Amino acid sequence: MLIARNVSVSLSRRPVLHGVDFTARPGEVTAIVGPNGSGKTTLLRALSGDLHFSGEARLNGQPVDGTPPWKMAALRAVLAQATQVGFPFTVLEVVRLGLTASAGRETDPRAALARVGLAGYEARLFPELSGGEQARVHLARVLVQLGAATGPDGPRWLFLDEPVAALDIGHQLQVMQLVHDFARQGGGVIAVMHDLNLTAQFAASTALMAGGRLVGQGPTETVLTDDALSSAYRCPIRLNRAPENGRWFLPQMAGLLPV
Ligand SMILES: Nc1ncnc2c1ncn2[C@@H]1O[C@H](COP(=O)(O)OP(=O)(O)OP(=O)(O)O)[C@@H](O)[C@H]1O
Ligand SMILES: [Mg+2]
Repeated sequence: MLIARNVSVSLSRRPVLHGVDFTARPGEVTAIVGPNGSGKTTLLRALSGDLHFSGEARLNGQPVDGTPPWKMAALRAVLAQATQVGFPFTVLEVVRLGLTASAGRETDPRAALARVGLAGYEARLFPELSGGEQARVHLARVLVQLGAATGPDGPRWLFLDEPVAALDIGHQLQVMQLVHDFARQGGGVIAVMHDLNLTAQFAASTALMAGGRLVGQGPTETVLTDDALSSAYRCPIRLNRAPENGRWFLPQMAGLLPV
């Protein structure tokens, strides 16, 4: 479990997160959604132990603020919103960086590349890849860092900041299926998302943020409502149910245009 209580963060002396209570369970994908600047990245960085905060957060019972980095690296991997690689590393070298943090885990870097649809890219230079290809290389790197979804210390956790933002629709589905499988195998997944359709399809739980606060959290269907979304995003949003599976989805733009 990830349990956080009263998490607050100030950046450059500006209060950015205000007393957030947040819970995530292993075995399912938990999404964090909300408008630009609402605090999603800041919350993810605090919960993953990358950013100092006031309040309390425990991952599998361990305090995330105060557990040594090498121990955190065995428990969770973080895919940042933007990761620069300034040197002409090959794709395989970038993925192998995950091994240095992993304390010798079991995932083969080549197999991880194949899982994100990049078999055969091993010798390519990372800076010469497209944006979406680079994003999937970084996902392979964090998969290599974690290895299996569970270990002797319990579930392992993926912290993903907009994992599909740079991807086409086919690769979005491939990556969401991959992280969903990781959760089904017993791991934990916390993913910042802008695509509400993918959120409705893959996340069992969702946290909705606005203005540095959590304005809703729970089963995705109960959090993603017309009123809550319209208020958080400050635009009219109407959800429909997909006839095939009863899941929520956003109608086409025509349904979103202000009258
Ligand atoms: N280093 C910083 N110093 C001061 N303010 C910051 C700093 N980093 C972020 N902020 C502010 O904190 C707020 C939350 O930023 P955050 O990156 O968490 O938003 P976000 O919800 O992830 O947005 P996006 O959807 O655009 O990625 C924003 O108003 C941002 O301007
Ligand atoms: Mg962000």
